[in-house]
Amino acid sequence: MFRRLWSLPRAITVAADMTAKEHLVKHLIVVAHPVENSFTLALAHTYAQELEKLGHVQQTRDLYRMGFDPLLSGAEILSGASGDAAQAQEDIRQADVLTVIYPLWWLSMPAMMKGYIDRVLARGFAYESEKGNVRGLLTGKMAVLITISGAPLPLLVASGNWNAVQVLQDTHIFRAAGFTLLEHLHLDTVSQKMAKTTADQYLARARACAQEHFPATLH
Ligand SMILES: Cc1cc2nc3c(=O)[nH]c(=O)nc-3n(C[C@H](O)[C@H](O)[C@H](O)COP(=O)(O)O)c2cc1C
Repeated sequence: MFRRLWSLPRAITVAADMTAKEHLVKHLIVVAHPVENSFTLALAHTYAQELEKLGHVQQTRDLYRMGFDPLLSGAEILSGASGDAAQAQEDIRQADVLTVIYPLWWLSMPAMMKGYIDRVLARGFAYESEKGNVRGLLTGKMAVLITISGAPLPLLVASGNWNAVQVLQDTHIFRAAGFTLLEHLHLDTVSQKMAKTTADQYLARARACAQEHFPATLH
């Protein structure tokens, strides 16, 4: 039991009189892929199921299926988030951990996920900036990134592209907003023709990611 307590991420405060219920971690999973039976969606389902098996709570927001509007409007820039973006901010307020899952598209993310970030991780909610200095407002919350690519990771690393991904996504978005980034799990050479054994190994890595960072609750 004590090993479990001490292996919790540092961002979780472990009180001396902590009860089993207090181990429970609230997860918000946000996933973006237009195809419902894509490998990206399979990863999201597997990760969510594993968290629940470990005794945690999770809410999955499947941006395409829920018809999330990814366009940041002038009105929102001037007056703040509204509608589905305001609800999405409330989802983040309620969660201990935000997990985002998406494929790399043009080394970046699908426009749907980018629009979610534009509208939801808005100034005044996720960050403040003064004279170019950005201060994250979501400190105390954790984040996990799960991405996939068609290209092999060693190729992305050798070309310098992986560094760009880490700077722009891990650091410039999630760490800048104040999240403690627990892991960026990247699964490479994903394609429709991927061998089932590879797909199964990748799904197992998603389960292992959940197990490593969020030990089972005791209830
Ligand atoms: C519009 C688009 C752009 C993509 N850009 C990249 C890219 O820049 N680098 C890469 O390695 N894979 C790229 N891919 C491949 C995806 O990352 C992913 O591996 C592929 O879509 C298979 O995953 P899925 O079955 O979940 O769709 C791209 C795919 C699409 C549809």
